[in-house]
Amino acid sequence: MALLGEISLPGDKSISHRALMFTALSDGLSRLENLNPGADVATTQLALINCGIPIEEKHGVVYVQGGGLRPFKQPVHAIECGNSGTTSRLMMGLLAAHPVHVQFTGDHSLSKRPMDRVFRPLQQMGANIFAHERKYLPVMLSGRDLWALDYQLPYASAQVKSAILLAGLHAKGETTVKSPAFSRDHTEQMLKAMGARIKVKGREVTVHKLTKPLKPIDFVIPGDFSAAAFFIAAALLVPDSDLILRGVGINPTRIGFLKAVQEMGGKITIANKAKHHGEAVADLRIRTSRLKGIQIYPEQVANLIDELPLIALLATQAEGETVVVGAEELRVKESDRIEAIVTNLSAWGAKIFERPDGFHVEGPTPLLGGVVKTYDDHRIAMTLGIAGLISKLPAVLDNPACVDISYPGFFDELRGLLN
Ligand code: S3P
Repeated sequence: MALLGEISLPGDKSISHRALMFTALSDGLSRLENLNPGADVATTQLALINCGIPIEEKHGVVYVQGGGLRPFKQPVHAIECGNSGTTSRLMMGLLAAHPVHVQFTGDHSLSKRPMDRVFRPLQQMGANIFAHERKYLPVMLSGRDLWALDYQLPYASAQVKSAILLAGLHAKGETTVKSPAFSRDHTEQMLKAMGARIKVKGREVTVHKLTKPLKPIDFVIPGDFSAAAFFIAAALLVPDSDLILRGVGINPTRIGFLKAVQEMGGKITIANKAKHHGEAVADLRIRTSRLKGIQIYPEQVANLIDELPLIALLATQAEGETVVVGAEELRVKESDRIEAIVTNLSAWGAKIFERPDGFHVEGPTPLLGGVVKTYDDHRIAMTLGIAGLISKLPAVLDNPACVDISYPGFFDELRGLLN
């Protein structure tokens, strides 16, 4: 059995959320191709429709009719954010300066994730926001005029950075966000491409209040690097594989995983580089490789945060020790991903040990396979699904459907590549 052939990935989830939200602030019709088909992005689409933004899909292409500087209407329903941290956090920033009264709700997992990291800085800008136990969803927001903020983030978070910048688009003055490490910069790239006044100086980003609407865009969303990462891991691990992934987003702030697996000895080549609206895209070719353990340092974490469960899996098959530190943010994702990955891989016989801020792994060890507790977390489900390709017994997931959050059809795509 090998992974052979080539595929294209669904559109990048982070970029898809942003494309829907930012085009709402434009003064024309935007055309979005290859929008991520998962439930999270559909949640953002519904939230915007709920706020009066006309969005239509025709032949797989999504059209957003921007409404200019003040496009939002009072929503009829609460903004139901489902499982999506990006919807909840970015929409709070987007709506904070608009004349709407909204309630944000979420599913069981999202209702346990911290929201104060977003609404505290928004409150400092003057936003009217109240939260359950001062921290969690449901959150009530009443939009009003804001003033600018100069904010030092305590951790590198693209969601929080983006929420503040979005609020800054309607705040009086210049809003600056400083980050302790580089986090994904899709917000900065897209706002620049759409004509906002935005300045990036190292880890510091400044936006000016919008004086005119953003420009509409025609955008083919790059393939999701975080989705590509599952196929990269699979091709590295499954013997005799040779796989090509077409049109993958390789924004430098997203590809920490690529660099890490190359350091582990992964054979990956990059071809056909191009750039659209500031986002780099390329084809990747991956071949089965002998891997060795590595150390992941805190400053690398933000650029591979969503791929760390895959690093854990690869480390179980790598020669020597792999150590990940400074990754405590993993505990507040869709699940506590440190606990989730360590529990599953150790139940399968791996030598993986939990740390408060990460994990360490001694490899290589064979994996037994069998039952997987997904914690209803799409990335845990897909990681263990890949692990099941090299384990003695197949992986049996307690909730395989949770992959629909970011990648409906993931398992069919994977099966189609196996020869
Ligand atoms: C995201 C940022 C990251 C990431 C999440 C998507 C985004 O979260 O884990 O999957 O689209 O901005 P944080 O910014 O909270 O680290």
